[in-house]
Amino acid sequence: MSKKISLAAPPAAIAEAAEAGNAFQVTTTDLELKRLTEAIYLKYSYDFRDYSAASQKRRVLYALTQLACPSIPELQSRVVHDPGVFQQVLQYLTIPVSEMFRDPSFFLALRQQVVPHLRTYASIKVWIAGCSTGEEVYSLAILLREEGLLERSLIYATDINPASLDKARQGIFALSSIRGFTANYQQSGGKQAFADYYTAAYAAAIFDKSLAANIVFADHSLATDSVFSETQLVLCRNVLIYFNKKLQDRAFGLFHESLGHRGFLGLGRKESIDFSSYATRFEPLARAERIFRKRPGLA
Ligand SMILES: C[S@@+](CC[C@H](N)C(=O)[O-])C[C@H]1O[C@@H](n2cnc3c(N)ncnc32)[C@H](O)[C@@H]1O
Repeated sequence: MSKKISLAAPPAAIAEAAEAGNAFQVTTTDLELKRLTEAIYLKYSYDFRDYSAASQKRRVLYALTQLACPSIPELQSRVVHDPGVFQQVLQYLTIPVSEMFRDPSFFLALRQQVVPHLRTYASIKVWIAGCSTGEEVYSLAILLREEGLLERSLIYATDINPASLDKARQGIFALSSIRGFTANYQQSGGKQAFADYYTAAYAAAIFDKSLAANIVFADHSLATDSVFSETQLVLCRNVLIYFNKKLQDRAFGLFHESLGHRGFLGLGRKESIDFSSYATRFEPLARAERIFRKRPGLA
């Protein structure tokens, strides 16, 4: 008898089913999703083929309802024939959600445990991978300014979503979010009044342009691109949770290669390097905050 098991099931469950001699069939939805991501890759060179199947399925099913599309094959056809539809689907697939000083204790740990090391460098390069609409980038710029390090820092902020990068470049956020951002800032060890950093205009908070003077926003995919600079600090937060293990390993490889001697890596609250192929090449600096440090002597 064939046992129905989804490709979204944990690999161990799929392997177990095969091991037990159960014939199993991949669900139609899984096949359609595979064809959709393959088509997107072939047509637009965006590679979603190694994203976590379960989360990708949720995102695509949500896109179907939002775009009033009856089926995944129909969505595939629209995406392939209309770049405008692809741009819409990209918004659903990339999950452009962020906030300033997200997980304030992470930024407090950065300030207390990483900044003292960064201070010892004449110039500092930071890579924020998967920067989305820029909230995390401006948070780090504010932190570095307060620690007197922004002027000697260069921040590369990268993402695959051009609409998110455009928004990030503007440095304008909804005024309705500022209350939450202010609370986060205060909990993260912020040293000034948060209002010092922006001008309120109608429904928008326009952030001080000088914060962005040393920020380079760029298109870069962790799935297909290579390393472009040596850095002392890499932040990649709430991005790897959407990748499968193979793609997470690829990203960790890029971070390891980018980081100079004893460089620092900050991940999201639900992310860890522990079970990756790079686990032994990093040591925890603040484990609860997901801040790791490159071990010495390992290529
Ligand atoms: C949930 S947001 C995280 C934003 C921010 N890092 C934070 O923690 O608030 C995930 C971001 O990862 C980006 N992303 C997804 N796949 C990517 C890839 N292959 N390479 C680079 N960025 C990617 C998305 O476009 C999105 O902006």
